[in-house]
Amino acid sequence: MASTQGAAQVLVASNRGPVSYTGQQDGSLVARRGGGGLVSGLSAIGSDADALWVCAALSDGDREAVRRGVGEPGVRMLDIPADVHADAYNGIANSVLWFVHHMLYQTPLEPVFDAEFRRQWASYQAYNRAFAEALAQEAAEGAAVVVQDYHLALAPRMLRQLRPDLRIGHFSHTPWAPPDYFRLLPDDIAAELLAGILGADRAAFLTRRWADAFTDCCHAVLGPGIPSGTRVGVHGLGADADFLRGRAHEPDVAERMTALRTEIGAGRRAIVRVDRTELSKNIVRGLLAYRQLLADRPEWRERVVHVAFAYPSRQDLAVYRDYTAAVQRVAEEINAEYGTAGWTPVLLHVEDDFARSLAAYRLADVALVNPIRDGMNLVAKEVPVVSDEGCVLVLSREAGAYEELGADAITVNPYDIGGTADALHRALTLPADERAERTKRLIAAATALPPAQWFLDQLHALQAGQAG
Ligand code: G6P
Repeated sequence: MASTQGAAQVLVASNRGPVSYTGQQDGSLVARRGGGGLVSGLSAIGSDADALWVCAALSDGDREAVRRGVGEPGVRMLDIPADVHADAYNGIANSVLWFVHHMLYQTPLEPVFDAEFRRQWASYQAYNRAFAEALAQEAAEGAAVVVQDYHLALAPRMLRQLRPDLRIGHFSHTPWAPPDYFRLLPDDIAAELLAGILGADRAAFLTRRWADAFTDCCHAVLGPGIPSGTRVGVHGLGADADFLRGRAHEPDVAERMTALRTEIGAGRRAIVRVDRTELSKNIVRGLLAYRQLLADRPEWRERVVHVAFAYPSRQDLAVYRDYTAAVQRVAEEINAEYGTAGWTPVLLHVEDDFARSLAAYRLADVALVNPIRDGMNLVAKEVPVVSDEGCVLVLSREAGAYEELGADAITVNPYDIGGTADALHRALTLPADERAERTKRLIAAATALPPAQWFLDQLHALQAGQAG
């Protein structure tokens, strides 16, 4: 047992934490709490449970907060050197691992495993070690630790070596690549990633499909496969209906609905999408499908608007910046080609605004969720829950949410632009009673495992040593 043992009974580790800090002109720091499934999941543990969230400082404001000892109870931010973090987060996690698990490499975007990659890999190891050491320090005897995502694939094994007494879980929010694709990673790196996660007592995923791919990779890369000490589990995170419905009926959302209704124009249908601007979300092909709908079926011109909120993400990386620019370019092209004095075919907004997203959810007639691959995709679950009149979901068969929602959605092959255009037409013409029936079933499936229960289930399974 480590001599530096701490007091926390339940620990979560993730790159992005629940709070971020911004420096003000007068030198003060303003804290902003984020949303998301993990934040509401953790709130289920309550404040007196000795819970601790270990995360990385991501901005200059965050680093300053760590230096000044400013912080929130229950959160420990690690001041990992900025260059180490940049290599681990931008270089390895978001340029390599994200692309492998979402199978995004295609010419001319190819993986490059050279000396620079090896240098960044050393930073990824150091970053993971910083988390493992902090967790080892903070955890009480026998505590449960849930490590999150592809940023921290090595941490479970490192932590196991430091603290064999802990119950360690790893949860992947992304898909997992099948062996033929995963093995494009150098052999030693592929093995190190798998062995890292296998250091956990439990490796959990959002769907059975990703869990099976992980198991297949272990067999293909490591030979003996999953060691007897590690269980593989599945927990499909659902929408937080109470929170979303409450938040969607606050005055700032109502204000934005009024503005959005004016932008859309009276009597028009709304095809809504809300994403981080990121290649796996397949926003460009969604726009091209909408363009094809307008080209092939002129009856929809002036009668429909594509409301696309695409919030820039990971803009330190050129490939994400270029994608954001491509989204904007294609939207402008469609508006130039088809727009009229009284009708803007695509309403593209790029400034992140949660209240406006909820306003769009409420007004949606059709929700377009067409990722190339996606761990789950919560938008697919959230729009039916929040929409005022019920909505038709056009859903990629490659989203994790497909396993739960596919039967009541209109499903698409995300690469098939023509097929997606047809699906949009079908969605727009679905009879009202069928739309209502489908929405009812979508809501039931989408809310089956709300975030708090999702987290508690993982915790209990970890403490009980269960699979499943
Ligand atoms: C995905 C990952 C999360 C990540 C989120 C936002 O859903 O699985 O771990 O937090 O994207 O990405 P970012 O790079 O902005 O944290």
